[in-house]
Amino acid sequence: MGEGRNLVGVDIGSASVKVCQVKETRRGLSLVRFGYVPLAPQVIADGQVMDQGAVTAALHKAFAEAKIRQRECALSVSGQSVIIRKIVVPIMTPQELDEQIQWEAEQHIPFDIRDVHVDYQVLRRRPEASQMDLLLVAAKRDQIEDYAQLARAAKLKPLVCDIDAFTVQNLFEYSRGLPVDRTVAILNVGASLSSLNIVANGVSAFTREIANGGNAITEEIQKQLGVSHEQAEALKCAAGGAPEYRTTTPPPQVFAVIDGVTSAIAAEIQRSLDFYLATSGEGEIERIFVTGGTANLGSLIQAIERRARVPVEAFSPMEKIAIEAKDLRRDLLERHQAELSVALGLSLRKEKEARAA
Ligand SMILES: Nc1ncnc2c1ncn2[C@@H]1O[C@H](COP(=O)(O)OP(=O)(O)OP(=O)(O)O)[C@@H](O)[C@H]1O
Ligand SMILES: [Mg+2]
Repeated sequence: MGEGRNLVGVDIGSASVKVCQVKETRRGLSLVRFGYVPLAPQVIADGQVMDQGAVTAALHKAFAEAKIRQRECALSVSGQSVIIRKIVVPIMTPQELDEQIQWEAEQHIPFDIRDVHVDYQVLRRRPEASQMDLLLVAAKRDQIEDYAQLARAAKLKPLVCDIDAFTVQNLFEYSRGLPVDRTVAILNVGASLSSLNIVANGVSAFTREIANGGNAITEEIQKQLGVSHEQAEALKCAAGGAPEYRTTTPPPQVFAVIDGVTSAIAAEIQRSLDFYLATSGEGEIERIFVTGGTANLGSLIQAIERRARVPVEAFSPMEKIAIEAKDLRRDLLERHQAELSVALGLSLRKEKEARAA
């Protein structure tokens, strides 16, 4: 896993800010610090930060409450401003590729190339065809810069900016390993976004962001029952069986809303899976792993299983990470475990591998 100190993983999600600090031990990774600060519904809307002061304050609070002194951190971006494509280019040397990549990217990316930060990974060299497969990643500079700016305003030092989907894949690889001869899908279903990442033979073969998530359920409950955001959240979590809401009994409408939205998310995911299967020429997807806050809803897991007709399983980000801290808020950690995939995945990154994206 490389040398050097781990960075603090900082996930600025639309529902909350999560920060995780891990350390490597002889027995694997241990979580030493953890912070979680909820964000009000309109602070980040449609992937746009509407209230920068509120995010900065939340970052500040998360670090302070978790008692994290280390300032060097890793961030990630997601959503519509990130484009990930598998492309084929003529075989070339790494130097040639560095020179050519902007031009190649321009052919595949619908944004002005000057506005994006381009990165790539060589997936496979195929000398027999004089070609190679690349994973091209382009993220809008202004989103990366906006997030880095928020972090700097909270007196942090962002050294790495990753992509949500890859961060979760890294954590999954650490926890379960990536099978070299199989295809699996990893889904992160949060509040406003669901990201799908299909991993074939150990590498990402297809990613897609779907602009739907748990927030749609909360908003619909608010509308139908005429309740506040907080009440709707409580009703949703109670209906999903969250232990801390044991005393709340949601009315039948809440279950109906959950079923409706989770079915819609499952249908959108299925469209992406079908597209992948029809275009990639790769093997069938064997299993789907779901993480993110909305993975707490059994109804989501069942809806995806019904559509995809393959086993679907909740993936818990903490499953291979020990806890090694005296003053860590275990109740908070327990309650928000499923939401930590991105922050924990980011906390695997090292200071030495720091680069722009
Ligand atoms: N026990 C639970 N039952 C049902 N839903 C839950 C539960 N716990 C959290 N959620 C939902 O999960 C969502 C938050 O998940 P997560 O932290 O992964 O999203 P986020 O990263 O903040 O947002 P995004 O990435 O979509 O911008 C919220 O919609 C929240 O209501
Ligand atoms: Mg998220």
